[in-house]
Amino acid sequence: MSVINFIEKHRDQHLEELKEFLRIPSISTSSQHKPDVDRAAHWVADHLRNAGMQKVEVVPTPLHPLVYAESPRLPGKPTVLVYSHYDVQPPEPLELWTSPAFEPTVRGGNLYGRGTADDKGQVHIHLKALEALQTQHGKLPVNVKILIEGEEEVGGTNLWDFVRNNRERLQSDALVISDTSMLAPGVPSITYGLRGLNYYQVEITGPSQDLHSGLFGGAVPNPLTILSRTIAQLHDRNLRVSIPRFYDDVARLSPSERKALKALPWNEAEFRKTVGAPGLAGEKGYSILEQLWCRPTFELNGIWGGYMAEGAKTVIPSKAHAKFSTRLVPHQDPQKIAALVEKYFRKLLPKSVTCQFEVLSTGKPWLAPYTHPIFRAAADALEQGFGRKAVFIREGGSIPIASEMSDIFHIPCVLMGFGLPDENAHAPDEHISLENYFGGIKSAALFYERLATL
Ligand code: BES
Ligand code: MN
Ligand code: MN
Repeated sequence: MSVINFIEKHRDQHLEELKEFLRIPSISTSSQHKPDVDRAAHWVADHLRNAGMQKVEVVPTPLHPLVYAESPRLPGKPTVLVYSHYDVQPPEPLELWTSPAFEPTVRGGNLYGRGTADDKGQVHIHLKALEALQTQHGKLPVNVKILIEGEEEVGGTNLWDFVRNNRERLQSDALVISDTSMLAPGVPSITYGLRGLNYYQVEITGPSQDLHSGLFGGAVPNPLTILSRTIAQLHDRNLRVSIPRFYDDVARLSPSERKALKALPWNEAEFRKTVGAPGLAGEKGYSILEQLWCRPTFELNGIWGGYMAEGAKTVIPSKAHAKFSTRLVPHQDPQKIAALVEKYFRKLLPKSVTCQFEVLSTGKPWLAPYTHPIFRAAADALEQGFGRKAVFIREGGSIPIASEMSDIFHIPCVLMGFGLPDENAHAPDEHISLENYFGGIKSAALFYERLATL
C-alpha cells in the first residue's frame, strides 16, 4: 500500500486520535492546568515513539516541559528539525463556543475545539505523516529531530535557552514549522516572512487612593483619562504610529515583491466578511496585505481601571492599566523599539501621575529568501497533497523562535501552515478544516519523502 493510501485508509483513526489530544486542556498560561500541560507533553512523547522516533525525551524546564526526539540515524540523508507547540490559549469566553472548547466536535467539514488550528492539529499532521512513512517503509526517509514546546502561547523563553544550550544536538539541514495559515481555502501556502512582537504593560497612578469625584473631580489628575489620551496620541489621522523614529529601520517593499503580493489569489471581500466590522482601518498608502504583512503596528490589547461593576459609582480611580503591543517588520530591532515606545509614552504623560512601564516580551521579525531547493520540494509536496499550486506568502503573526533559530543555525526554514485565517485561533469556535488536516498529513509525508532525494 502506498503511503497516501495508508493515510486515506486511516482517516477515522487519525481524527479520533487527534480528538483525544485536543481533550487535554494544555492551557499554558493557567497554573491550575499545569498537570494537563504535563499530560499533553507526555501524550506527544508517547505518540512520537509510534512515529519512528527513537530517543524521545520530556525535558523539564522552569515552566512547562518540552518534548524532544530524534529518529534513528541514517547516514548520508539530510536532517530536518521540526518545531511546534502543544500548548493552547485559554478558551474564555466560554459562552461563545457552540460546542465546548475541550470537547472536539465535527461540524460542516471542520473540527472544532481549542488547539485544532493552533497548533495541536498541525502537530498531529506531522505525527501521522511520520507514522505513515515508518509503518509503510519500516523506517523514515530522512533524519528527523522534533522539538515540541509547551510555552509558545505565553511567550516563554525556556525553549530559547534549550536551543542555545543544545546547538550541536539540534544542528540540522533545515527547520520545518507548521504553525501558520494558508492564504485561502484550497491554496497551499509557504510562509517566508513573519512579523515580530513586543508586548508591554503599563500602570498609571494618580491619587494615592480612589477619590470621590464630586469632592475632588476638577482639581486632581484622573489616571484613566490621562491613559486614554496618551494612547490616543500614539497614532495620527492616517493611522501611522506617531512614536518618533518608529519607522526608521523599516524595510521598504521592493517593486517586485509589491507586484508578487498583488498577484496572489487573495479575496478582499472574504477578508471583510471575516473581519465583520462596518469598515476597515489601516495605514494609508498601503494595500491590505502590505498593512498586515509588511508594516509595523501599535495595537492596544486591553485597558482597564476604575469602576466596572453594575450601575454608577462616582469615583476618580487611583490607577489605570493597559496592555499593548507592537508588531515589527524587518529591520526593526525589538530592543530599540521597546526603548522608543517607553521613552515617548513617558514623555506624553503629565507630571501629575507616575507610570510603571513593563516590557513583557520581545520577538524579532523574520523574513528569508526561498531559493534553497528545499522550498521547491515543499511546494511540490503541497501541490501533490492539495492538487493546486502552492503560493509563497508573508503573514502578520509572530513565531519569535523562528528568527531565533534561523539566526543560530543559518539553515533554511520552511513554514508550511495548514490553518486558515478565519479559523478563530485564540478565539471561541476555533476549528480546522478537515480537508486541510488530511491534505496536511499527505503533504507532510510527501515532503519528507522528497527531502530524501535532495
Ligand atoms: N501560530 C501563531 C502565530 C501565527 C499564526 C503566525 C498564524 C502566522 C499565522 C502563534 O501560536 C501565536 O499565536 N503567536 C503569537 C505570539 C506569541 C509570542 C504569543 C502572536 O502572533 O500573537
Ligand atoms: Mn501557534
Ligand atoms: Mn497562538
